[in-house]
Amino acid sequence: MTHPESSSPSTLNESSAVRPNQFLQGPFAPVGQEITVHDLKVTGTIPTELNGRLLRVGPNPIDPENPATYNWFSGNGMVHGVRLREGRAEWYRNRFVRDDQVVASRGWPEVPGPRQAVPAPRYARNNHGNTNIFAQGGHTFAFMEGGSLPFELSYELETVARSNFEGTLNGAWTGHPHRDPLTGELHGIAYRWDWSYARYLVLDAQGKIRKSVNIPLDGRPIIHDMALSRRYVVFHNGAVQAHAGLQAQGYDFPYAWDFDHRNAWGLLPREGTSDQVVWCETEPTAAFHLLGAFDLPDGRVAVDAISYDRLFHKDFTGPTEAPARLDRFVLDPSTGRSTLERLDDTPSEMPRLDERLIGVDRHRYGYFSSRTKTAADATVSRLLKRDLDKGTSESYAYGPARFGMEAVFVPRTPDSAEDDGWLMTYVSDLADSCAEVVILHAQDLSEPVARVHIPQRVPLGFHGNWVPDEELPS
Ligand SMILES: [Fe+2]
Repeated sequence: MTHPESSSPSTLNESSAVRPNQFLQGPFAPVGQEITVHDLKVTGTIPTELNGRLLRVGPNPIDPENPATYNWFSGNGMVHGVRLREGRAEWYRNRFVRDDQVVASRGWPEVPGPRQAVPAPRYARNNHGNTNIFAQGGHTFAFMEGGSLPFELSYELETVARSNFEGTLNGAWTGHPHRDPLTGELHGIAYRWDWSYARYLVLDAQGKIRKSVNIPLDGRPIIHDMALSRRYVVFHNGAVQAHAGLQAQGYDFPYAWDFDHRNAWGLLPREGTSDQVVWCETEPTAAFHLLGAFDLPDGRVAVDAISYDRLFHKDFTGPTEAPARLDRFVLDPSTGRSTLERLDDTPSEMPRLDERLIGVDRHRYGYFSSRTKTAADATVSRLLKRDLDKGTSESYAYGPARFGMEAVFVPRTPDSAEDDGWLMTYVSDLADSCAEVVILHAQDLSEPVARVHIPQRVPLGFHGNWVPDEELPS
């Protein structure tokens, strides 16, 4: 049965082709130059305990094949890094992640390492590395989901090799691994267009896959993120599903809102097997980014997610069709049901928390990137802190024509309180065509403690992480 609101491929094509692609313009517009800048100008004082690299990655398309069908998720990757040491900003670097399209376009040598054929769609077949960047096992990796293999980068962010984690990764990695602070392992859910299952993967602290569980799926969803509670791996089989009609029309990211799909959260016991997965049905939603999950004393599980009431219904260039809002889903594995509570009506995305709590304890605070419009249609970009116990929020506005990105929380000391630490994010300044790393104390969003000035714009992108010297020294 087809839902009356379902779209036919012919209407899909017309709806996107008539509009300019916003993900190739303004704050999203790619930069062409790789630069290296030493001894960056700083306003304020960089906390001396911040020694390491603030890394991020995002799409920076070198030559989109068709701007009408270009999807934000599909651009070639570009990494950005700022190296902090003892109160100084030693360097900024931005580098393309050298996928085949980038090296062919620039005449650079091919990158060595393992390869695999991915049949479709284009965003995975082109094998980019645009979604996330982590250090694990003494190496830095940029990567994406859907079937692409990770890229290993040097400390200075040059692409060194393609990687399958020393032969232990097969098929696909994830865009959103989460680190268990007790073991140092990275946990993620991989999926592919051509798989009828998702794959739960654990990458050990030495950088090798130690656990792999195939989980049969109803449908072919995008499963972009996951969360860990103390007892469960939590993930969502939501309303955005693979769409063969879009694939046939050449869309980079051929996934669409499926009105007929039964949405459900999956709960896999942390060291369990695929037959132990419990599904909890929910209203149709797209929950691409999860803030975190925790177990309740009565056996239920709470997961806080950024969810959309509609996405990829008529616009296949990116997540544009509904505001992103913070919801709490409470899942009952004993009944297979769930309840939903809207925690915050403020449009917000890119959720982060104090990662010492992942899989360990209930989080109280969440940090988000929020963009709203003024009456005059100007965008206001803010860093938003949400106190989930009190139900209150505070925020820092970056200023006119300035766009903040995902903020990373770094505890001030290993045992400081949940919000006693630093929030760091890249900010793109459209008017002056430059960027900054802004550092705030998470308990005082009135004013940054430091702003590190970068003389080139950083396009709005995806995810990043702080890699302290204790984790990976230079
Ligand atoms: Fe993401």
